[in-house]
Order: sequence, then structure tokens, then C-alpha cells
Amino acid sequence: MYIDMHNHFVYGVDDGCKTQEAMEKLLTALHEDGVTKLISTSHITPSQRHFPMEDYQAHFAQAQAFVKSQGWEMELYTGHEILYTDAASRYLREGRALTLAGSDFTLVEFVPGEKLERMQEAAQKVRNAGYRPVFAHIERYEAMNNLKHVRQMKEDFGVRLQVNCHTFVDKQPFLRRRWLGQLIKEQLLDYVSTDTHDMKGREPCMTRCYQTLEKEFGHDVARSLTWYDALEFFEDA
Ligand SMILES: [Fe+2]
Repeated sequence: MYIDMHNHFVYGVDDGCKTQEAMEKLLTALHEDGVTKLISTSHITPSQRHFPMEDYQAHFAQAQAFVKSQGWEMELYTGHEILYTDAASRYLREGRALTLAGSDFTLVEFVPGEKLERMQEAAQKVRNAGYRPVFAHIERYEAMNNLKHVRQMKEDFGVRLQVNCHTFVDKQPFLRRRWLGQLIKEQLLDYVSTDTHDMKGREPCMTRCYQTLEKEFGHDVARSLTWYDALEFFEDA
């Protein structure tokens, strides 16, 4: 059993699945991979790109109906992956950007090469708006390569951190591998998730990620990163 809290299965609303058929294939692969709680985190770019909320809600309902028809033990939840813009916290306050499973946690991503100061500003503004920030795929941001910055981000703003499963599963350069190990040993990392968009390129690999984590860091770490830590999103659901 795994929780996948970062996923683009809802079709026709971002660069994730393009068709209902592709969505159903992806849901099938996630089910076969052992995912039992799944949060849809379609991309939203506040004030810069229109988000088709009605399509999102309709296609999310289709996904729920499909899962039910298959009789799987899989719960689906709504959410967004918010690209941080100046309008992001306003969108959250106005309910135009969806939090993770209706909790007060919100998944935030940045443009490549984003500066540390801007990431700190994002964390502060999200907190000021009454939400708890979760930073998506932190392996993409150079500012997070420095563990001092990571520690500070957690201490100052309580930011939760997510890394994509493929980053653990795929071969990595020595320094990247060492950085991942340090994140885990210092208990700085909170979740691993698929961030899967469709079955072309970044297919679900929660099980392989779990096995890699278990082999390198032990059972407890592997279970925390793939299940226990993310349970906090559903406490009020
Ligand atoms: Fe994503």
C-alpha cells in the first residue's frame, strides 16, 4: 500500500494524460503498483494561465467512477501543483487553487533555477495565507542542493519536501546520491511520489522506489516516505 501525493492522472487539463483512455491506463498501472491513496495534482499557474476547473471536476469524477467499477481499494483525492507566482497565495485564499486532499497542505513548484529568496518568500506567503507548504520535486532546484538551505526552510517555515520516485530508482551521479542519503539520514525528506503524467516516459514506480529505499535505509524509512508521513493529508478528510 502506497500513497501517491503528486500525480497528473486527470486528463485534458494540463500536460498530464490527454484522454480518458490514457487516464484509465495510468490508474490501472498505479493500482497494479500498489497505490491505494492517490492525490490528483494538476498544474495550475495562478494569474498566468487559465485552469479549466469544470473539466477538472468532471474528469476527476470519471476517474472515481472508473476505479469504483473496477472494485479496487483505491481512494482518489483532489489537489493542485501550484507554480509559485505573485498571485499564488491569493488563489489559495479564494479557493481557486486546490489544496492536497482538502487539507491545509499545498503542493508548490517553481520555475527551474528559482532563487532561494523566492522560495523562502513562497513559503512565507503560503503560511501567511493559512496553509502549509509542500515543495514538489526539490531535486530540481539548485538552491535545495545546499543542506543548510533545506534545514533552514524546514526550521523557519515548516516546509514539507517531496522527491520523485524516479530520482531514487534511476542511476544518479555520486553527489546527487550522497545528497539524497543526507536528506534521509537527517530526516529532512517527507515524501516520495511518482509525479507521473502518463504511461509515456515516467511510469509509476512506487514499488521499485520502496524497494530501493528499504535496501539502502531500512523498512521504517521506506514506509514513512511512501505511506506514513503522507497520512497527515487525510486527517481531516
Ligand atoms: Fe507534477
